[in-house]
Amino acid sequence: MAKDTINLSVNGIDYTFSIGDNFGQVPCNETLLDTLRNRLNLTAAKKACDEGACGCCTVIKDGDAVPSCMTLLADCDGCQITTLEGLSDPVTGELSELQQKFIDYYAFQCGFCTPGIIMTTKALLDKNPHPTEEEIRDALSGNYCRCISHYHVFEAVNAIAGRPEDLDEKWEGRR
Ligand code: FES
Ligand code: FES
Repeated sequence: MAKDTINLSVNGIDYTFSIGDNFGQVPCNETLLDTLRNRLNLTAAKKACDEGACGCCTVIKDGDAVPSCMTLLADCDGCQITTLEGLSDPVTGELSELQQKFIDYYAFQCGFCTPGIIMTTKALLDKNPHPTEEEIRDALSGNYCRCISHYHVFEAVNAIAGRPEDLDEKWEGRR
């Protein structure tokens, strides 16, 4: 039987939602993306295709990168959710090393896809701190960038994955 109370943690903060059709309750078909954006004001995860095809809405759920537009809040009871907002220092606002690398390597243009790409990358690196180029490409195969920033994304991820040697010469003086 479906639960009518959902407890979850988002970026280390605990929340409880009541599922139902009454005033103040969350409809059973509400997606995690809508809950994050519309109820918690966490707007880094973007709504683009809204059908699981582009990766712009990617967050980390219990260690895995998932499209939050295809995840129901009602299926998140007991889950740990991390969004892009959860990566920076909550007190100082200092960016994580991963976020900073994307800036250092100019790994975005408009930035609409970037939160999803960073969260997919974080999930990968948490499980595999030194992925191969092939593993990086495979992990990011569901994240699309209309601005064609993929080459710089791969360079940023390669750099943080511990193989910056090939890149340093190219980027010398530009960072
Ligand atoms: S908005 Fe969720 S995958 Fe595109
Ligand atoms: S930087 Fe514009 S869609 Fe990726």
